[in-house]
Amino acid sequence: MLVDKTILLVIGGGIAAFKALELIRRLRELGAKVIPVLTSAGAEFVTPLSVSALAASPVHTDLFDLTNEAEMGHIELSRCADLVVVCPATADFLAKMATGLANDLASTLLLATDKPVLIAPAMNVRMWNHPATVRNVEMLRHDGILFVGPNRGEMACGEFGEGRLAEPAEIVSAIEVSFLGDKLAGKRVLVTSGPTFEPIDPVRYLANRSSGAQGAEIARALVMQGAEVVFVTGPAEVAPPAGVKLVSVETAVQMAAAVRDELPVDVAIFAAAVADWRVKKAATGKIKKTQGGTPPSLDFTENPDILATTSKMKSGRPKLVIGFAAETENVEENAIAKRLRKGCDWILANDVSPKAGIMGGTENAVTLISHEGLERWPRLSKAEVAVRLADQIHKALLS
Ligand code: CTP
Repeated sequence: MLVDKTILLVIGGGIAAFKALELIRRLRELGAKVIPVLTSAGAEFVTPLSVSALAASPVHTDLFDLTNEAEMGHIELSRCADLVVVCPATADFLAKMATGLANDLASTLLLATDKPVLIAPAMNVRMWNHPATVRNVEMLRHDGILFVGPNRGEMACGEFGEGRLAEPAEIVSAIEVSFLGDKLAGKRVLVTSGPTFEPIDPVRYLANRSSGAQGAEIARALVMQGAEVVFVTGPAEVAPPAGVKLVSVETAVQMAAAVRDELPVDVAIFAAAVADWRVKKAATGKIKKTQGGTPPSLDFTENPDILATTSKMKSGRPKLVIGFAAETENVEENAIAKRLRKGCDWILANDVSPKAGIMGGTENAVTLISHEGLERWPRLSKAEVAVRLADQIHKALLS
């Protein structure tokens, strides 16, 4: 969850520099803005064009570039980000940083910045273990510089040992950890997410088009603010976020039981697209086609309404219960009625009609409905909706 975060990414020389491209892609997927800086050694391994195309930002290369200095001076550049990341950092670059050398754009930025710095070193195992590098790393750690990796493994040079660049996913995690907030520390929050699958027979089921993306983003935003998050999810398309207590279920009945087992919580958010009905008695064997071609008839029964049950708890009710109202018409009107019917505190209404393109997409346009009225949010990425919701939850718990 890196929405609204700007990363100044210094790409050093070394064969591992190509992994910086994957890092840029992942950071942007998570909503971060990436401002790339390429050292001259880095430019031997990746081209400025591929870096700037992936970052969707001009790449800064030269300390004495008059055009860039006119637009953004190197001092300003060193301060414009929330975090400076060096990936990969060579032994030479670590030595420069440790001694405070500033003879090119990258090293000057590192000396001038007032922002946290995260280093992802990559070098030959002997260079990493050399007393000079060990000394430099110790000094940099002492100065408060953060490190991710290097990992042990086979190197491009054919040797084996410590010195491999950390994988882009690990670097992203380290970046996320460096931004961890604590607004919701000490709060236990439950999030339901994804679709439910309701069996018809051992091979068939009823489902819906929920990808689980909005629920996963909400859980991630809450983790990022220090909450203890229980993530009860149906079989979703998207992977669950890191740092949650994961409870995987398939059916609505299982989801209801899992929610019951995880209470009490301070806040409960019901983002799952729960099936309203299940087949009364799922067949134990595969339903076969009949000779006469008569299709089978399915007998349905209603599923437990998890949101309504939790909202109407007599004792141990979460302080804040939040539901979603996925509607295809009269969105706000239906959502206002749904909030009252279900008894929850807030409902996030969204238009899931095919023309809105929300279901399965990366954006959402929601209206927050509470007893205070309506708050229409602009169309935002699902990650931004989640950050906004986490902020609102924080404010509500304070009041
Ligand atoms: N919900 C739930 N348990 C159910 C059905 C829905 O917890 N059995 C929750 C959803 O997670 C969501 C909210 O209730 O937060 C509204 O879901 P929605 O499908 O929009 O509402 P329904 O109850 O199905 O109402 P309707 O069919 O009238 O739209």
